[in-house]
Amino acid sequence: MLTQILISFKIYFIVVVIFSASQIFSSEDPVRAKNGLVVSASDLASNAGIKILKEGGNAVDAAVATGFALAVTFPQAGNIGGGGFMVIHLNDSRNTTIDFREIAPFSAFEKMFLDSLGNYNPEKSTTGMLSSGVPGTVAGLIYALNKYGTMRLNDVMQPAISLAENGFILDEKLAASINSMNEVFNRYPSSKKIFTDNGGELKAGMLFVQKDLAETLKKIKDKGSAGFYEGSVAEKIVEFSNKNGGLIKQEDLSNYKAVERKPAEGNYRGYKIISMAPPSAGGIILLEALNILENYSFNKEEWGSSEYISKLCEALKYSFADRTEYLGDPDFVNIPAEKLISKEYAQELFKKIKNNGVVSSEKIKPNLFDNHEEENTTHYSVVDKDGNAVSTTYTLNSWFGNGMVVDGAGFLMNNEMDDFSSKPGSANQFGLLGSDVNSIQPHKRMLSSMTPTIILKNNFPFLILGSPGGSTIPTSVLQVILNVIDFGMNIKDAIDAPRIHHQWIPDRIDYEKFGVTEDVRQNLISRGYKMGEVRSLGRVEGIEVDPQTKVYYGHSDKRSQGKAAGY
Ligand code: GLY
Repeated sequence: MLTQILISFKIYFIVVVIFSASQIFSSEDPVRAKNGLVVSASDLASNAGIKILKEGGNAVDAAVATGFALAVTFPQAGNIGGGGFMVIHLNDSRNTTIDFREIAPFSAFEKMFLDSLGNYNPEKSTTGMLSSGVPGTVAGLIYALNKYGTMRLNDVMQPAISLAENGFILDEKLAASINSMNEVFNRYPSSKKIFTDNGGELKAGMLFVQKDLAETLKKIKDKGSAGFYEGSVAEKIVEFSNKNGGLIKQEDLSNYKAVERKPAEGNYRGYKIISMAPPSAGGIILLEALNILENYSFNKEEWGSSEYISKLCEALKYSFADRTEYLGDPDFVNIPAEKLISKEYAQELFKKIKNNGVVSSEKIKPNLFDNHEEENTTHYSVVDKDGNAVSTTYTLNSWFGNGMVVDGAGFLMNNEMDDFSSKPGSANQFGLLGSDVNSIQPHKRMLSSMTPTIILKNNFPFLILGSPGGSTIPTSVLQVILNVIDFGMNIKDAIDAPRIHHQWIPDRIDYEKFGVTEDVRQNLISRGYKMGEVRSLGRVEGIEVDPQTKVYYGHSDKRSQGKAAGY
């Protein structure tokens, strides 16, 4: 009897331990769903997207709802005062992209950020209203909804309006993030009113209500794009811009158009890659690097080795050098995009890498330099029950843009003008020259690195992903793709694994904590690399689809504060 009791207890104990372990592991696993998944940097925004999917909306409806909700719950980068890119795959095999990047105001000019001595002044392109491009987000989200969505604007905007009007509980991370900008918000009464407590810091746990933003969102809901680009909201933007030395006028707002563009498309080891074409450099860098790397066959043990990191870095150096030489707004400059993403061109580069080994960046493309880019953007990925998928990255450029809330309209403005090359053709502090493909011109779009991407297997979504991170965006997206396709990691491990970054100039490898062991570091140095900063690289919000079962797996980067929500 006693033995029986002991055996039963042992079985019970084992079951409890296994069950607890599986609970522990399942909380570590990617979120699993069959009907739809939304992964974003904000749990409330992911929930808004899922609500729309549950109400019968498709992935585009949910993406528009998530985009508007992020503007309320993730003001660091979610926005209506900025711009971005949306990549769409529809289950009838159509693939398309929507470019809602900001444009330079009509009265912007090439040398607007140079001082009287002709020196570039970065302060001017990152702060104040002069740093703002004409916002594109509202036009882009509404374009997507009207053409590819199924629901009314009224319905998809409701979650965002409720979150702004009724408020939400400010969590520790958002409070800390807002408070880190307290000094900036205190400079502008309109920002101070919303993002400070009478000048002091906001408290975690408080109800964060944004009445002015709710009113602006309602105007958009009622009038569509005209609710933002015309009428009282537009008047507020123009008045605020005039008052603060900005260049945005009514004609800039009235003329803003989101543009539907052909995706940057390619394939990698039998998977179809659909990404963003210029004016984002993201898709081209990604495809160029993948095409070069396809010439290697990686074995699983190679991950993290100096050999693997070297292959990655050489592919990235050539891809980033081409970015600086060739890429800008396709409506203003001729871009040899087809060549840059062709397998033949990748073969040429691969041969150079094979023959020359590690070469210094200056030897790859002399006389060019690249601009520093802000790294604060946000990405979200959506898939619905029918296999429609949306990958969106949008931004205010810096965290909270230029920190300036449009008075009475409740939203922050971008400082995206900083993404132009402000001093092309002149030597920079390193004595290197910039190309003028990304120079400032009226109504031109500034070059971006955003890389919203959808990967198809047999014409069904396989990966949907993207990241913030300025120039580290394409390298982050690239490494997650390689982790899944070449190294067999699941989406969570692929996203959370440490990353490295090389962007040609500066000629150095940045890497994450625990990303490069000491012997690998020494090995890379002995191969001729300079080791750079140890820092966080990207925050990927991704979805993977099991090609056999069509079950969806989502994961919000451990570096992010977000959530994968599914049902
Ligand atoms: N502002 C960051 C980007 O567009 O890539």
